[in-house]
Amino acid sequence: MAAAKMKYEIKGQCGRAKSAHVETVHGVIETPVFMNVGTVAAIKGGVSTDDLRLVHTQVELSNTYHLHVRTGDKVIRELGGLHRMMNWDKPILTDSGGFQVYSLAKTGRKIREEGVEFRSHIDGRRIFMGPEESMQIQSNLGSTIAMAFDECPPALAERDYILPSVERTTRWLLRCQAEMDRLNSLEDTLNPKQILFGINQGGVLEDIRIDHAKRITELDLEGYAVGGLAVGESHEDMYRILDAVVPHLPRHKPTYLMGVGTPENMIQAVDRGIDFFDCVFPSRNGRHGHVYHAAGKLNLWNLAYEKDMRPIEEGCDCPACKGIRKEDGTYTGGYSRAYIRHLLKAKEMLGMRLCVLHNLSYYNRLMVEMRNAIRENCWESWKTEALYKLKIQNS
Ligand code: GUN
Ligand code: ZN
Repeated sequence: MAAAKMKYEIKGQCGRAKSAHVETVHGVIETPVFMNVGTVAAIKGGVSTDDLRLVHTQVELSNTYHLHVRTGDKVIRELGGLHRMMNWDKPILTDSGGFQVYSLAKTGRKIREEGVEFRSHIDGRRIFMGPEESMQIQSNLGSTIAMAFDECPPALAERDYILPSVERTTRWLLRCQAEMDRLNSLEDTLNPKQILFGINQGGVLEDIRIDHAKRITELDLEGYAVGGLAVGESHEDMYRILDAVVPHLPRHKPTYLMGVGTPENMIQAVDRGIDFFDCVFPSRNGRHGHVYHAAGKLNLWNLAYEKDMRPIEEGCDCPACKGIRKEDGTYTGGYSRAYIRHLLKAKEMLGMRLCVLHNLSYYNRLMVEMRNAIRENCWESWKTEALYKLKIQNS
């Protein structure tokens, strides 16, 4: 077995739910963790990496495909890698490009055994990306965790499409592993301890999912993701697939549910043994003035907030709600809902930024609550109450 590049220690478990302490070359990750999405090496909404520290972000996530087409991974390598470029020294996970090639570069795309040929969504130029290219790009970026190059079939694709696709994804994973080992052993590699996570696929077909999970577990990678979910299937299908698949992935390694999701989705997935997440919801909702609150989401565009002097959420320690520390150690009231509404209406960037900061803070805080509940052995009661509150908000 190759020398471990990461330490993963389970600190608490209740049923299938687990909370772990992870050590990487770029520092510690406590799970369950929400990775804050910065697709093009920027958190949308004008959020800086200093801001990420203020909202207690543990892992930043960027995309191979986007950074390859703009500004180019070779340039980023010359700039010292993604960490140096972004002024972020904590863990970074890079997605492989597999998913983005399918979601963004649909026109003229050709999938072959070697890889995928597609047109850049920026300037239309033809690009080829296969497992080796994806690993080389992620190696140039120097991320902490690299994702395998996979194909994400449409959620409701037929068995005839999914089976050969998953088999190819397995062959691609073997090539990713070999290439990552080769790159990590090169003398001038930016991060010789770069970690590779495999990705489980198989649509909503349990038998294909389970066979694939068993097969990729044999490769003894450092972590495993469940991909191809939250792409149009029902929540029931998502939970059914997690119920089937997670027990076949190694429990003493990270399990990552890609692109998910709402607070409810994440609680349900943690309950089924998932401990890594990422999703654009908090930043996207924030940019639209939709902010999370213990009593349900608020739409700050509503007239109801025109004269509302309260912060978005009382007691929230994010830069939008907490305010400024005064000389006597107390804080000013934070930015009011009324002011943020005014900023949004005036199309001032600060409005979006404050909403995004609050939402990221809310998601990160939800993860803290889940970690505490699991480690303090009160997961079941915490989960029941949290899901009940979310349900009455949405009804
Ligand atoms: N992000 C969300 N889903 C997926 C997936 O299935 N594969 C990859 N590579 N990224 C994803
Ligand atoms: Zn806040």
